[in-house]
Amino acid sequence: MKTPHDFSVSYVEFNVRDLDAASAELTGRYGFRIAGRASSADAESFLLRQGRISLVLTRTLSEAHPAAARVRAHGDGVGDIAMSTADVEGAFRAAVAGGARPVTEPHRRPDGRMTATINGFGDVVHTLVEDDPARPAALPPGFTALDGEERGRADEVLEEIDHFAVCVEPGQLRPTVDYYVRAFGFQLTFEERISVGAQAMDSKVVQSASDGVTFTVIEPVTTGEPGQIDGFLKNHGGPGVQHVAFRAADIVTAVSALRDRGVEFLSTPDAYYRRLADRIQLSRHLPGELQRLNVLVDEDHDGQLFQIFTRSTHPRGTLFFEVIERLGARTFGSGNITALYEAVEAERTGSQSQAPAEATGPRPHTDRPTNPVPHTDPPVCLGDFAEAAAAALSQEVWDFVEGGSGTELTLAANRTGLDRIRIVPRVLSGGPECTTATRLVGAEASMPVAVAPMAYQRLVHPEGERATAAAAVAAGVPFALSMLSSEPVEKVTEFGGTVWFQLYWLRDRGAVGELVRRAEDAGCAALMVTVDVPRMGRRPRDIRNGLALPAGVAAAHLGRGGRSLAHDRRPGVSAVAEHTGEMFAPALSWDDLARLREETRLPLIVKGILDPRDAARAAALGADAVVVSNHGGRQLDGAVASVDMLPEIRDAVPESCRVLLDSGIRSGTDVVKALALGATGVLLGRPVLWGLGAGGADGVRDVLSLLAEELRCALTLAGCGDPAGAHELRIAGDPGARNGAVV
Ligand code: FNR
Repeated sequence: MKTPHDFSVSYVEFNVRDLDAASAELTGRYGFRIAGRASSADAESFLLRQGRISLVLTRTLSEAHPAAARVRAHGDGVGDIAMSTADVEGAFRAAVAGGARPVTEPHRRPDGRMTATINGFGDVVHTLVEDDPARPAALPPGFTALDGEERGRADEVLEEIDHFAVCVEPGQLRPTVDYYVRAFGFQLTFEERISVGAQAMDSKVVQSASDGVTFTVIEPVTTGEPGQIDGFLKNHGGPGVQHVAFRAADIVTAVSALRDRGVEFLSTPDAYYRRLADRIQLSRHLPGELQRLNVLVDEDHDGQLFQIFTRSTHPRGTLFFEVIERLGARTFGSGNITALYEAVEAERTGSQSQAPAEATGPRPHTDRPTNPVPHTDPPVCLGDFAEAAAAALSQEVWDFVEGGSGTELTLAANRTGLDRIRIVPRVLSGGPECTTATRLVGAEASMPVAVAPMAYQRLVHPEGERATAAAAVAAGVPFALSMLSSEPVEKVTEFGGTVWFQLYWLRDRGAVGELVRRAEDAGCAALMVTVDVPRMGRRPRDIRNGLALPAGVAAAHLGRGGRSLAHDRRPGVSAVAEHTGEMFAPALSWDDLARLREETRLPLIVKGILDPRDAARAAALGADAVVVSNHGGRQLDGAVASVDMLPEIRDAVPESCRVLLDSGIRSGTDVVKALALGATGVLLGRPVLWGLGAGGADGVRDVLSLLAEELRCALTLAGCGDPAGAHELRIAGDPGARNGAVV
């Protein structure tokens, strides 16, 4: 049963001076399409649509039009928030009885629909439009459709109007709220005081009976210093709509699309994201993704919300938009209002150059880089990227990347093993300029380094493995794609370059065969089978954190790449480990390896070998390369540092079987040490993820180019013209060294 108080937003009318410019801004940047037009002797209007949102832009042609005075007083702004109701006459009578001032009496329009207009707050009015609030008509009264001229709907990212933020003069908050309760049957649903420094404001939320229309009404508290609400009232010339909030189904997609089209958003201090993990356990989206886009997060009893505010392009700074995604939450992000206002204040006090009129609306930090940059600028060693990544990632993701198994003895041993080794440099070799270029398992490489396979990179950055692959191509090094990647192999090989596909052994043997074919078809240059994970090592950090994948990150090659046990968050359980336990075959044997060798003509790399006897057997079965690795200290805690086994393994396999090393490589000198001990090259693990977390593809590229520079320097200082020259170096400090004297 429809009641006169069952309102929804029919359309929002903006009074504008320049109709073409305003519609170009909303269509070009915000993705609205022009769906209708209306004109009369004293005004012309466009109807803009997106999702269930209808905006009307009206330019007055004569001073007689009531909107002309509004534009003179305020500049462009919201003049009418039209509300649909099934019973215009009933709603009108009830409003007038509740104290509303009639602007236009109820009347039937030529198209047969009833309308009436009454006052709202300040000089903003409400046109009541006869409509079924649940199924509104396509056009407001008086508009004709522009079907032929409508743009496509493919890039629509905004769904509906969530709420209007209304600023009123001091002392007017209570009367305004009472008015909506009396005249329109709205309910007061939320109220609070927000204080930031010496400024404060009171806010109350009123909503129509079925939540179809929502106003957050704000007044400044006069005891504090004049703040942004005072600024709005001064520059706008009285009360009015400060911003309109649009609801999006997926804020990350929406904000990315809007940014791409040129919408500018307010930025948020990095400190906000550093504290985010303590404040909120995200149910959706990745912290790095939210930080990159500057999206704010808040939580109430009912769930979470994500929001962001656009930079005002209004000459007076008095109108902007909000994009909001609700995941159950019913409030309006008051926790964020403090953060937002702090950000704005920081900018206001930090910049003297803004015109006073511009300083009133929230303003962005325009000079903040899009990607968080490490503290040392530019980074001088790979560790600098770790700092930046730690700031960008949640504790849970950081621990997943950094952590090892057990008491992390092996994780630490990888570093002590490498640190113990000393290079004996050669001098006066008088060769031409040093090159780092080489060949790795049949592929050209700009240096003897490949990116190690690492699972679920979209946890670290929204572009995940695609960003890493693009950076590896730019750096000219092979990229090993984990079978547990969050992007499918076909999307990664798109970038070209050398991609190696890493396989784990699955219980479903058929699925392994299918993945081999898929990797071949996608153009991978080698298969890398990881043999040190009959089950996942016990990783205490992940267990304590109850590590689980968020929605939106999944193993792209398993099942249909959708929800799995890895998403099943439970305290004290690593859902990611549980998932691998469910999928991985615990009993990979040499026969399996032999069958795999027969199944593919691609070069085969066996990763995760520490015992020379296993290396010899893998080589005898036709492995083209072995990776001496303890999985970065993530599997058997107490296992030997991989570098300590390198010389023996080099000796155990024929020359034709290449030997790669990983676990603990952190610098160019580490690479030289590995080469001197007989490796053809190394795999780089965590530092790649530090770059990814710190700055996406750019961050990974910076990590790889810094490593190349360090390597060039180390080779030159060691008297080597190229990586092959390093094989002839003697090293000291390691009794097992191949050329080995301890000097
Ligand atoms: C890994 N590693 C890994 N190895 C593998 O064969 N398949 C995989 O899916 C993963 N996943 C994975 C995730 C993360 C977050 C890390 C840090 C590591 C191990 C990786 O390939 C490599 O052996 C080590 O990372 C090398 O050690 P460093 O360089 O990280 O010390």
